[in-house]
Amino acid sequence: MSAKRKRLEPSRSAAAVVTGAGSGIGRSFAYEIVRRGGSVICADIDGQRAEEAARTLLELGEGHAVAYRCDVGSEKQMATLAEEAESLLGRPITLVVNNAGVGVGGSIGQVPLKDWRWCLKVNLWGVIHGCHFFAPKLRALGYGGIVNVASAAGFGAAPEMSAYNVTKSAVLSLSETLAAELTGTGVHVSALCPTVVPTNILDKARLPESRSGFASAAMRNWTFATSDQVARQTLDALDRKQLYVVPQFDGRIMWRFKRYAPRLYARTLGEAYRLAAD
Ligand SMILES: NC(=O)c1ccc[n+]([C@@H]2O[C@H](COP(=O)([O-])OP(=O)(O)OC[C@H]3O[C@@H](n4cnc5c(N)ncnc54)[C@H](O)[C@@H]3O)[C@@H](O)[C@H]2O)c1
Repeated sequence: MSAKRKRLEPSRSAAAVVTGAGSGIGRSFAYEIVRRGGSVICADIDGQRAEEAARTLLELGEGHAVAYRCDVGSEKQMATLAEEAESLLGRPITLVVNNAGVGVGGSIGQVPLKDWRWCLKVNLWGVIHGCHFFAPKLRALGYGGIVNVASAAGFGAAPEMSAYNVTKSAVLSLSETLAAELTGTGVHVSALCPTVVPTNILDKARLPESRSGFASAAMRNWTFATSDQVARQTLDALDRKQLYVVPQFDGRIMWRFKRYAPRLYARTLGEAYRLAAD
């Protein structure tokens, strides 16, 4: 592949930072980036998971991987990561995947405010920090990509997921704004909106006792894609300069329904919730 082509496809031979790379979708992103000839900093709040992910990637023998312990919700730690990233990989960062996230469930008024704050700190501030510290560097470089991991929850507004929904809507809005600001700079933005993907997200999720069985069953049964498929599709979409990435069929139905018939969507959702609660 020519150097020019590589530059046009940010997922190829990237120097990447992936947050939450120790597990699930982030780990799949890190794997896929290395498979495409890139180097990756596997950043995670869980240093041991980050080490395992980086070690597994190094064993593939196809690229370079470095483990990095970092809390995306900490301004200081993310600023330090952005300062150190270039020297860790030996070249400027060309791709950032703001993926780290946590789950919080429960209805409005029941979710403890400390859980709201935790969700906002990781899912929203983590992505804000990633964009704030890395976007100017990519802009100065004149090429590359930023993938923000949102969710179908960002437009689906499912009941009892208020805190999570709010963070993911905000990540979508942040990504849309960033994409507009970076137009013509050579840096492309994609926002990933999956529905359910089997990962370890429920292990640390804060859910009401009464809802954890339903959530585990959804994670086991209601899925149309693996994390590897989602990561591959997203990087392909980034290379095509596609802003919205809705990789699963159920998500695409929800996306169209909400866009084309928003009032009917809200009414149907509310009625379905009321019937399920009865
Ligand atoms: N699994 C799904 O069904 C699903 C659906 C839509 C969107 N998402 C989003 O995908 C992203 C990845 O989630 P996943 O499902 O792979 O979960 P996961 O729990 O398997 O992986 C998340 C990783 O993020 C790390 N992490 C958590 N808090 C962190 C912090 N403060 N700083 C740095 N790292 C942190 C965890 O240690 C973990 O390794 C999240 O943003 C999530 O909201 C997941």
